[in-house]
Amino acid sequence: MSKSFSVAVAGATGAVGNQMIKCLEEREFPVKSLKLLASRRSIGRKISFRGELTEVEVLEESSFKGIDIALFSAGGDTSRRFAPYAAADGCVVVDNSSAWRMDPEVPLVVPEVNPHSVARYTNKGIIANPNCSTIQMVVVLGPIHKRVGIRRIVVSTYQAVSGTGKKAIDELLDQTRAMINFLEYQVRVYPHRIAFNCLPHIDAFLENGYTKEEMKMVNETRKILEDPSIGITATTVRVPIFFGHSESVNIETKEHISPEEVRMLLDKAPGVKVMDDPKNNLYPMPLQAAGKDETFVGRIRADESIQNGINLWIVADNVRKGAATNAVQIAEILARDYL
Ligand code: A2P
Repeated sequence: MSKSFSVAVAGATGAVGNQMIKCLEEREFPVKSLKLLASRRSIGRKISFRGELTEVEVLEESSFKGIDIALFSAGGDTSRRFAPYAAADGCVVVDNSSAWRMDPEVPLVVPEVNPHSVARYTNKGIIANPNCSTIQMVVVLGPIHKRVGIRRIVVSTYQAVSGTGKKAIDELLDQTRAMINFLEYQVRVYPHRIAFNCLPHIDAFLENGYTKEEMKMVNETRKILEDPSIGITATTVRVPIFFGHSESVNIETKEHISPEEVRMLLDKAPGVKVMDDPKNNLYPMPLQAAGKDETFVGRIRADESIQNGINLWIVADNVRKGAATNAVQIAEILARDYL
């Protein structure tokens, strides 16, 4: 890549924004200039990029003049409000919030699965980055769907607190410290204590009894796999883990596929690493997936209760592949093929 680009990160001081900056550096994205944006709370903060400290600026409607690509991770309301200003100034927005994901004009992209959708960025100047749990699931299910067709997905998640942001990371740390020292703990971010607990509750509850997070997995998976006919049901659970989401995924395929064939297919799939040797206690865990960009899959076995069923266990770093890395990969496609 010979061209280089003016890049902005909106939400630069957050858990994902911070990782976006690191990913741009690690993946040697051709950055000509980097603008770091956050709220007034962050005035005066400096963040390091390629060994130099850059001052954080306040996100404003005029922040995007002269910017080519803006990576947004500052919450849905901020994206809804500021992404259109960025696009109007000719900047392409890669947005990590849920604000634009289901807009039919906005592409929802996982580079390993539907890179061709990036082309549709011209509709609104916005590309949506999917929900973290959805990304890691479709990276693995995409190749299976392509090969044999997926009729139905039943997924339960075990999601790390970093998905909620920095405040939740601090809350788990503070509560754990308090508990092991027999001190009073505070509950601020979640409705209940998260330390030494599990909450079957991610995002708000909806009329149908599911949470928003669960319905994101249903709707976003169908959009990315370009197949509204797939039956999907999800239960999303917050667990006291800092980094790395895990998922128990059960699929029913249209044509038969054996666990061995699934293993062989996924061994060659981009962005996937098969870790499946239970006899030697080898299976994916958040402990080993944290800090990595691959999506890990193991415990691949037949669901013996139905004709064409497969069970899988899928783990990825939710802040990296589930958010920052995926966004930077989208920016890489833009830079290579479109800008
Ligand atoms: P700030 O640190 O100034 O509050 P996280 O998801 O880890 O909590 O991070 C959220 C990110 O979004 C932070 O960088 C935060 O900045 C930024 N942010 C939140 N609200 C706004 C806003 N209204 N304008 C600009 N940035 C915002």
